[in-house]
Amino acid sequence: MQHQGVTLWFTGLSGSGKTTIAKAVERELRNRNCKVEMLDGDIVRTNLSKGLTFSREDRDINIRRIGFVANLLSRNGVIAIAAAISPYRSVRDEIRQMTENFVEVYVDAPLAICEERDIKGLYAKARAGQIKNFTGIDDPYEAPLHPEVVCCTAKESLDESVDKVIAELERYNYIPAKQFAGISID
Ligand code: ADX
Repeated sequence: MQHQGVTLWFTGLSGSGKTTIAKAVERELRNRNCKVEMLDGDIVRTNLSKGLTFSREDRDINIRRIGFVANLLSRNGVIAIAAAISPYRSVRDEIRQMTENFVEVYVDAPLAICEERDIKGLYAKARAGQIKNFTGIDDPYEAPLHPEVVCCTAKESLDESVDKVIAELERYNYIPAKQFAGISID
């Protein structure tokens, strides 16, 4: 049994763990011989969305671009993994509406934890007023109301988060359950 195309959408604050979980899920799916492509906000903003700011308008453009490409991929049988803050619910829901198979993963970590981690040092800069409109500090983040998966990265291990995402893909039959993965019967 082959897998289906699906858009797997990670949303959450900067430093919540989106990229970390997305990469680990990508690895697991590749191990299961799935076709996977990753669209990470930080990387997309260096090419496809180069020059866009963090205004609401530009964030929405960024998300629509990622959603557009993810949709092209997923309708052709690829598992497209998007990892971007995507702070606005309405544009996320817009992508959900236009995408046949859509799984939203809310990477839920309290702002205080993300700020404590401050992996890129950007929260400190935002607090110091050196970066304006930083999500969670002086810009909004609208959590999903009905995400398919919630990963509480402050409470669960990376493996637990990855397992939850993979289990959801299996539950929807987007990917075959593990015992069947990679086995083809002629
Ligand atoms: S989104 O809002 O358009 O979805 P995206 O995920 O592409 O954001 O990019 C977020 C990354 O850009 C953050 O992880 C951080 O490294 C960096 N960044 C720089 N300025 C900001 C800002 N004002 N708000 C949020 N992230 C910012």
